[in-house]
Amino acid sequence: MADLDTAWNRLEDAAKAAGEKRIVEFFDHEPGRLSALTLDVAGLHLDLSKQAWDEAGLEAALDLAHAADVEGARARMFGGEAINSSEGRAVLHTALRAPADADFKALGQPVMADVDAVRVRMKAFADAVRSGEIKGATGKPFKAILHIGIGGSDLGPRLLWDALRPMKPSIDLRFIANVDGAEFALTTADMDPEETLVIVVSKTFTTQETLANASAARAWLVEALGESGANQHLAAISTALDKTAAFGVPNERVFGFWDWVGGRYSLWSSVSLSVAVACGWDVFQGFLDGGAAMDEHFRSAPLEKNAPVLVALAQIFNRNGLDRRARSVVPYSHRLRRLASFLQQLEMESNGKSVGPNGQPAARGTATVVFGDEGTNVQHAYFQCMHQGTDITPMELIGVAKSDEGPAGMHEKLLSNLLAQAEAFMVGRATEDVVAELKAKGVSEAEIATLAPQRTFAGNRPSTLVVLERLTPRTFGALIALYEHKTFVEGVIWRINSFDQWGVELGKVMAGRILPELESGATGQHDPSTTALIQRLKK
Ligand code: F6P
Repeated sequence: MADLDTAWNRLEDAAKAAGEKRIVEFFDHEPGRLSALTLDVAGLHLDLSKQAWDEAGLEAALDLAHAADVEGARARMFGGEAINSSEGRAVLHTALRAPADADFKALGQPVMADVDAVRVRMKAFADAVRSGEIKGATGKPFKAILHIGIGGSDLGPRLLWDALRPMKPSIDLRFIANVDGAEFALTTADMDPEETLVIVVSKTFTTQETLANASAARAWLVEALGESGANQHLAAISTALDKTAAFGVPNERVFGFWDWVGGRYSLWSSVSLSVAVACGWDVFQGFLDGGAAMDEHFRSAPLEKNAPVLVALAQIFNRNGLDRRARSVVPYSHRLRRLASFLQQLEMESNGKSVGPNGQPAARGTATVVFGDEGTNVQHAYFQCMHQGTDITPMELIGVAKSDEGPAGMHEKLLSNLLAQAEAFMVGRATEDVVAELKAKGVSEAEIATLAPQRTFAGNRPSTLVVLERLTPRTFGALIALYEHKTFVEGVIWRINSFDQWGVELGKVMAGRILPELESGATGQHDPSTTALIQRLKK
């Protein structure tokens, strides 16, 4: 096995060589390309054959994964070692979706009994709210849930709800994240406190935005129901049980999780209680099972047939080999439209780091910008730039093979767009074809000379396709776990800790200094621009 530096050099050389060729031509020279680069895992079909790597490039990427000891790191993660070294914590979101009899330990301590005890409480609570056994203070059943949280305490449950919500929910679910009074006012304007359960979700229970919204929600409940009535409408999810008690949430309405679950990996825990209530427990359990199926695959499949590893290596090939500094993720699914927002936190908070656990610089450039929205909408927005812009942005296009939702015929149209875009990105459109078409239409030679270059598509834009056989709780769980493990593999190869987030601290501290200055006091020491803005906004 090559050492890591040699493996990086080989990858960069291989990417340079592949980058000078056309992806579509790889298929002519590599008869095994499709079978090597397509996989079926846990209800997902992955096609990485439209990626920029040729056979030598893929081999170099796999060598890099071996040289970085992805397999060893994977064993340390599943083994509950303190791989989040800056916080001395294990990383065990995989335990949250494992069956009760699985053997997971965090830093040597068994965790499954605690995990299952919380799941049992969550299920009992979800069932009781849904059946009306748990009611509001005035005896009315809950018809709506207000989920308050931000970042990992919001993005996952929000996506989960969109992906799996019933057509006509018996319990509606709304989310508030931002510390912007407008969001609170707009969201609660047509809600009835008598029929609303407020679930406050904060791992630390110190997050400014969440506490501000939680206090506003409590005041909103108290106004309608009085102090003791309000408490009956509260539940909380946190690892800080002392703080939830101080906020007034009855103990039996507090659901814990553990410091070995990072915020952006917490949607498998009680953080998604609101979704479990609004969708029903079976839906949530199906989601957990799908995640567990992907874990099983990630843990046992050899690297060359391992879906999260291959998706990570395609990213590394593009990012480090070909210097592509952004990636777009486009689900051709309205239900998955928030996937890119979720991945922004998952990938950019996990891997947006420049130094590794020993303070050494990262091996190479790390997380890229991730952006995206739902197809086909984005075809009428930023896809012009994806097809003909000066920079090449690799894409992940996600589709759902079968869907019975909505009017007949629409799903095939959606799928045809998905496939057409992936093909167009790779194949492009040659100038000769454009010239022939214009000639056939009788366009003059002079006009053709100016029009043809503008209508030419260079193609050679790499993409990965992920197709869910259906959008079910299981396939959705498998999809999210795929991205989690992809993020982990990248972090291992880049030699960074994917599980801390010191980068979000500085802004919080500085906002804490500026707030009293805005509210009243004298302006403190700042740069001239900030000082001028504080003085202006104070007025
Ligand atoms: O923004 C940083 C962060 O700590 C995220 O990692 C986390 O998901 C989010 O804030 C919310 O934190 P909490 O759940 O503790 O309120």
